[in-house]
Amino acid sequence: MIQALRGMKDIIAPENETFTHILKTAGDIAERYGYEYIETPLLEETALFKRSVGESSDIVGKEMYQFIDKGGHDVCLRPEGTAGVVRMFIQNKLDKKGGIHRMYYHGPMFRYERPQKGRLREFHQFGCESFGEESVYEDFNIILMIKDIFDALGIGYRIKINSLGCPECMPGYREHLVSHLHDISDGLCEDCLRRIDTNPIRVLDCKNENCQALLENAPLITEKLCETCDADFSTLVRLLEAHNLPFELDPKLVRGLDYYTRTAFEFVSDEIGAQSAIAGGGRYNRLVEFLGGKPTPAVGFALGIERILELVKLPRKGREGVYLGVMVPEAVDIIVDLAHKMRQNEKVFAEYNKKSLKAHLKAADRLGVRKCAIIGEDELKTGEIWVKDLEKKEEQRIAVDRFA
Ligand code: HAM
Repeated sequence: MIQALRGMKDIIAPENETFTHILKTAGDIAERYGYEYIETPLLEETALFKRSVGESSDIVGKEMYQFIDKGGHDVCLRPEGTAGVVRMFIQNKLDKKGGIHRMYYHGPMFRYERPQKGRLREFHQFGCESFGEESVYEDFNIILMIKDIFDALGIGYRIKINSLGCPECMPGYREHLVSHLHDISDGLCEDCLRRIDTNPIRVLDCKNENCQALLENAPLITEKLCETCDADFSTLVRLLEAHNLPFELDPKLVRGLDYYTRTAFEFVSDEIGAQSAIAGGGRYNRLVEFLGGKPTPAVGFALGIERILELVKLPRKGREGVYLGVMVPEAVDIIVDLAHKMRQNEKVFAEYNKKSLKAHLKAADRLGVRKCAIIGEDELKTGEIWVKDLEKKEEQRIAVDRFA
């Protein structure tokens, strides 16, 4: 039998309901923050991700679903949403229009990672991207929006924040860090040794305990920020404190994507195991220009839907809708008309095959409907329908034209 690919999942009952609830909740809140819904393609040129997410990142280096299409183009299933949105922003000349553009999206992302609990090869994100606003108040608003979404979904979280500096302070810090990494290179793991030259700040979040012990005295970017980055970061901290958000400073939070400048953050949950990040994002002021657009400040985030699915507990749904069935084939036309009329206002399940009353009641119960309405031989003669309210357990006969 053909199975779904490793690390890829069907979304079916009972999870499907929570899945759509999360997307609807997040979408409604994003709209209240002035974001509008967009879609971008699942497939993009590989070069887009190489340039934005970064050649030295694990995502591009190891995890891309990359292939040559029938036209000979080097393409790739999107591993994340930001790069495609930035490409769309520039291609549609929104960068030239100026002003502020806020957009949200959701859909599948693909990363060829080693599957484990909370880590899939096809997973879903809900994301927001805000273009044109330089102020750190926008970063704060984004964090506040995620808080609103998680509060509405009834789930707990901790927030980790860091600043990754800007072209003014980052190069000096990087030099400092590289020199320190060379000093401690003897005990570092192979991945870290490779990263000293390709992407030194990624060494800071190595998961190897030995490396972390060696990194104890590593210089921290937050101590080397330029005046503007430092002032922005202090404002963000002040705003988070003033609004009682549960945050911690994590100077080793570097994120797995290379496009970030200044604010970087993650929301983590302590209830879902090792893959604990339920949302991540930050500012990426250089990416629009880097991909060929007019320099435009930007900030955004994405939520991992599958990880959040585990945390959301929906209240038990009450019975809803109507089940229509027949015990004599001559009544089917009446049911078809009734169903069509009633669907203008409510959910209707129509069963066209003649069945016993017991079988109809069993099917109606399984579907979780409120009412089971059946036409048998007697009802056909009198122009009535037999109706049972499955919640109140009450039965009655009603004239068909009064029922719909
Ligand atoms: P990211 O941190 O790579 O950021 O992913 C965002 C979220 O997607 C993570 O916090 C996690 O919940 C979920 N996620 C990532 N990988 C997997 C996986 N293999 N299986 C299940 N869930 C996963 C981004 O993708 C950025 N584009 C976010 C952003 C938007 N930054 C600025 N704008």
